[in-house]
Amino acid sequence: MTAWPATLRARTRITPANHGEGMFAHRAALRTTGPRRGGPWQRGIALSDNTFAEQHIVVTGGGTGIGRATALAFAEQGAASVMITGRRGGPLDEVAALHPSIVPVLADVATEAGIDTITAEVRARAGRVDVLVHNAGVFARTPLDELDPAEVRKQFGVNVFGPILLTAALLPQLTAPGGNIVIVSSISARLAAPAQSVYAASKAAVDSLIRSWAIELGPKGIRVNGVAPGNVRTPILGAGGIPAHEIEQWQTNYANVVPTGRVGEVDDVVPWITRLAEPASAWVSGEIIVVDGGRLAA
Ligand SMILES: NC(=O)c1ccc[n+]([C@@H]2O[C@H](COP(=O)([O-])OP(=O)(O)OC[C@H]3O[C@@H](n4cnc5c(N)ncnc54)[C@H](OP(=O)(O)O)[C@@H]3O)[C@@H](O)[C@H]2O)c1
Repeated sequence: MTAWPATLRARTRITPANHGEGMFAHRAALRTTGPRRGGPWQRGIALSDNTFAEQHIVVTGGGTGIGRATALAFAEQGAASVMITGRRGGPLDEVAALHPSIVPVLADVATEAGIDTITAEVRARAGRVDVLVHNAGVFARTPLDELDPAEVRKQFGVNVFGPILLTAALLPQLTAPGGNIVIVSSISARLAAPAQSVYAASKAAVDSLIRSWAIELGPKGIRVNGVAPGNVRTPILGAGGIPAHEIEQWQTNYANVVPTGRVGEVDDVVPWITRLAEPASAWVSGEIIVVDGGRLAA
């Protein structure tokens, strides 16, 4: 393990609330305790805190998993505000407590009321969005011989209707030129598996939205990109009703197949989301970055 300089160790408070969240929690702790900024540090990563200075970010599904770590990363890179949304107040409040720039908003992105809530909050606060991250998503098995139509509507409601309706509603507030959208897709869009057709189709729709919106919004100066993760350790499978022992089996199988030999962690994915949103990526649009430990190559 890399040893931290004594000054950083002394000034960084790792609490039960942020312990185990990877490098972004360390960065959150560093930020809130007022450390030296800049220069090389843990794992040789340089702090570049001001990448998103004065920018206003919205991350849907920001209370857990990839969305939580993404919100913390934007906040740590200097964003003026990071609005996180979700249906449960508890996780949202927990993340908001980790950084003063994070603003929790209770909203179900699968409903028009939820879309209205987010839009109203954006108008009432910053009045603009520089980066919109559509991350909220749900997964559940949908075998055709036991198909529950409500489950189909739910997955398309959150994974597809949510990004479509929220993008349309926030378009007047999206900074143009210069704003950008990042959508969290999945390798499931390109990888067929039994009993997962609905989720896969919803993510294939997301891939299509990314390419279409890149063309449609390009003339306004808005970029649209996506990140397609493989199997990442987050609550999503449990939330979708997959029993713990099966999740473990899926992860073991995944680790055995991919060339990198393990499942992903949120910190494997988040830097690609923020990177796509950076001004330095000004010439990248309509791209979907696969972050899967090599699964699609295996
Ligand atoms: N983990 C993986 O292996 C993996 C792989 C590929 C792609 N992805 C994608 O990554 C994204 C993030 O998922 P995750 O893995 O980080 O799982 P997660 O921790 O379960 O995050 C999903 C988030 O979406 C929110 N959400 C769900 N339904 C919502 C709704 N109707 N309205 C608003 N928010 C809603 C949840 O919060 P509430 O329940 O509080 O609403 C939760 O915070 C998803 O789009 C997922 O499809 C994940």
